[in-house]
Amino acid sequence: MKLEVRIERTSAPKAHPPESDLGFGRHFTDHMLLVDFHESQGWSDARVLPYGPLALDPAAAVLHYGQAMFEGIKAIRGDDGVVRVFRLERHCQRMASGAPRLCMPAPDPEMLAHCITELLKVESDWVPRARNTALYIRPTLIATEPFLGVRPAHQYLLYVILSPVGSYYGGDTLKPVRIWVETHQTRAAKGGLGAVKAGANYASSLQAAMRAKKDGYDQVLWLDGAKHEFLEEVGTMNLFLVLGDELVTPALGDTILSGVTRDSIITLAKARGMTVTERPLSLAEIVSAHESGKLKEVFGSGTAAVVSPVSELVTADRRMIVGEGVGPIGQSFYDELTGIQHGTRRDAHGWLTAI
Ligand code: COI
Repeated sequence: MKLEVRIERTSAPKAHPPESDLGFGRHFTDHMLLVDFHESQGWSDARVLPYGPLALDPAAAVLHYGQAMFEGIKAIRGDDGVVRVFRLERHCQRMASGAPRLCMPAPDPEMLAHCITELLKVESDWVPRARNTALYIRPTLIATEPFLGVRPAHQYLLYVILSPVGSYYGGDTLKPVRIWVETHQTRAAKGGLGAVKAGANYASSLQAAMRAKKDGYDQVLWLDGAKHEFLEEVGTMNLFLVLGDELVTPALGDTILSGVTRDSIITLAKARGMTVTERPLSLAEIVSAHESGKLKEVFGSGTAAVVSPVSELVTADRRMIVGEGVGPIGQSFYDELTGIQHGTRRDAHGWLTAI
């Protein structure tokens, strides 16, 4: 399904921010894309408009009952000047498969990919040129119907905004993070929203993350919601461990987001001939792997940071120092993924869409 995208250009383009100081999610481009959904009409009126505030009724369902989800995708300017989107289709499919959990209409993945591509064509000059920068694409789906009864809304807005970004944690090299193992609060419970990129999951993560920051940690490691025994995610990322020669990541279920970077790392690791295992990982197993020297590396994976090495895991009664900080395996996946994204390594899996 393809919708015709109407384009209304801004008469007041903004100055581009300096590429040496982009940060993450602080700057937005000149235009945004909007598509309406009404139960009786389906998707309609795809339009690129000048970037600006949305007019929302104060009774819009999203503001009360949280029917909201989003995606995070990157467009990267290669060393050859070409702009390429990383795994556009897979991200669009993930939004479509997550929406029904929130009783929201699933945007057709092909329609969404087409809309994003049209917006990127208008904004291609906003894709930064410096190494370790990207144009972060944020598709968002919200319930707009003004109605206070508790039921799925009948009207929605799908919109896409773009933000030129630098590396997630700043700086040109990977920065190892210190992690607090959270044993009280949980990010997601069985049967809940954890596998969906729902705004609510991020809201539920904030308090523990803030507490950890106050105590000198960068982020928290999330354990399962039932008994706090099994590892789930780290901060806003999927989690990988190197145990001996094996790359291990918690098995997906309804509490873990099916990360696109996670899937990419698994694919690359298998192509290298590594043993990759997706299985439940208990904290007790990690403690004993640390004691026996089997725990070589821990890192997070996500679109924003790509790979984020973990140097310390700290619980109420122990401090586990992991490797030397930035481990060679995490670094190698970072190099391989960013190499593919920049067009300097072969895109053997057909992950890039050139704009
Ligand atoms: C990602 O890295 O993919 C994330 O989800 C982080 C984002 C919410 C800033």
